[in-house]
Amino acid sequence: MEELLLHKKHDEKRQGEVFSFINNVPGSNKYFYIESYGCAMNFADSEVVASILKDEGFSATSDLAKADLILINTCSIREKAELTVRKRLSEFKKLKKDKKDLLIGVLGCMAERLKSAFLEQEKLVDIVVGPDAYRSLPILIEEAHSGQKSVNVLLSREETYADISPVRLNSNGITAFVSIMRGCNNMCSFCVVPFTRGRERSREFESILNECRELFNSGYREITLLGQNVDSYHYNNGTENVTFAMLLEKVAQISPLLRIRFSTSHPKDITDDVLFTMLKYENICKYIHLPVQSGSSRILQLMNRNYSREWYLSKVDRIRELIPECGISTDMIAGFCTETEEDHLQSLSLMEYCKYDLAYLYYYSERPGTLAMRKMKDDVELSVKKRRLQELVDLYRIHSKHSMEKEVGKTFKVLVEGKSKKSEDELFGRTDQNKVVVFEKGNLKPGDYVNVKIHSCTSGTLLGTVIK
Ligand code: SAM
Ligand code: SF4
Ligand code: F3S
Repeated sequence: MEELLLHKKHDEKRQGEVFSFINNVPGSNKYFYIESYGCAMNFADSEVVASILKDEGFSATSDLAKADLILINTCSIREKAELTVRKRLSEFKKLKKDKKDLLIGVLGCMAERLKSAFLEQEKLVDIVVGPDAYRSLPILIEEAHSGQKSVNVLLSREETYADISPVRLNSNGITAFVSIMRGCNNMCSFCVVPFTRGRERSREFESILNECRELFNSGYREITLLGQNVDSYHYNNGTENVTFAMLLEKVAQISPLLRIRFSTSHPKDITDDVLFTMLKYENICKYIHLPVQSGSSRILQLMNRNYSREWYLSKVDRIRELIPECGISTDMIAGFCTETEEDHLQSLSLMEYCKYDLAYLYYYSERPGTLAMRKMKDDVELSVKKRRLQELVDLYRIHSKHSMEKEVGKTFKVLVEGKSKKSEDELFGRTDQNKVVVFEKGNLKPGDYVNVKIHSCTSGTLLGTVIK
């Protein structure tokens, strides 16, 4: 078990997904193929890249053999993510033998650190572009065609791609991601993101609202507002300072038929204002992803998370006091530097207290350039990390089973998203709390809201009957 990721979150379940366009460029004879790894921000970025390439006359293809340009949008969060990309790149390189003018490009979070390795030492790719440099792709493609190694990994303090209307890729036409900010200033000691994506910056308020309105007008019914720390969103629109709670409210007011989700909330920053806004609008989903990382205050301090175990638990209590039905999920890391059995027991006991609906559990993977790598020793044996991770997983499974079973007998408003995987006669959708529900098709179609009474469940799915 290299790493255990349970109940892949909807932003991670599309790992390595090949994208194709809905609207290809008419008469185009240039094709690009794109594969994306990592978090939802990367998937959202691939939609920005698609928009830039579409303006250059490219159409997307999911057929590697047809592609003139192969792109891979990469993730650096753990070592395993990087290994997967390297393997994929060596497979792509073989295609060059039969197609000499084929270009291969690396985008995203691995770009900065591995640019020289990819371009010069291993000669795996022709183009390397970092997350803030996608506007330079057309020039880089041109340079690569003329035989130059093309690279732009400059990070920016301003770039938000606010004016680029993303081309929705592999879309179900119902749910979409909208980036509200980029980068991260938090400097958690284990995390590579501040180095790969640069300083935090918030996207212009009106451009977010416009994108959300356009999505709603084209039939989308659920939007997930994305940022590494959405609670620190702030934008001065000339007359006032817009906070995340204010943004949330404005998006919720677009239409009661538009559902709003958001991710990720940082426990040190989430405010009562956000919770009250969630309460005020029925269409803001009652679900919060609140990563804790560890249950030990000592480890949290080493992680530079800026909150203690007690602070975190008081946030969970507050959410449950104000919004008792709110789903809560988390991320946790087992085996961070110096973690003792006592620290680990505290992670288990915190998990026992919170009884998460969903948990993304990892063991610590040392990342180059991070504070932890520079200042701390990765001193927990791999076998111990894995054993502790397994203990977290085992406990989480008990809670998630209970979290599903407690819904049996209840009725939920579900947004229909598409056909169920198992049967043509069934559809699936999600509850407010982000649980997948499968039910009979009847005359329903994606985008409809329907009340479903739950009669049974599996470990990851609720099964129900439509209430007329
Ligand atoms: N911004 C979010 C936050 O503050 O929680 C999380 C962003 S990160 C993309 C997603 C998760 O990956 C983190 O919450 C953490 O649990 C995990 N992660 C990050 N760096 C890691 C590392 N070096 N080893 C293991 N897991 C890591
Ligand atoms: Fe990484 Fe911490 Fe920023 Fe999340 S808040 S992206 S864990 S540095
Ligand atoms: Fe996301 Fe991976 Fe980058 S999790 S921000 S794609 S390092």
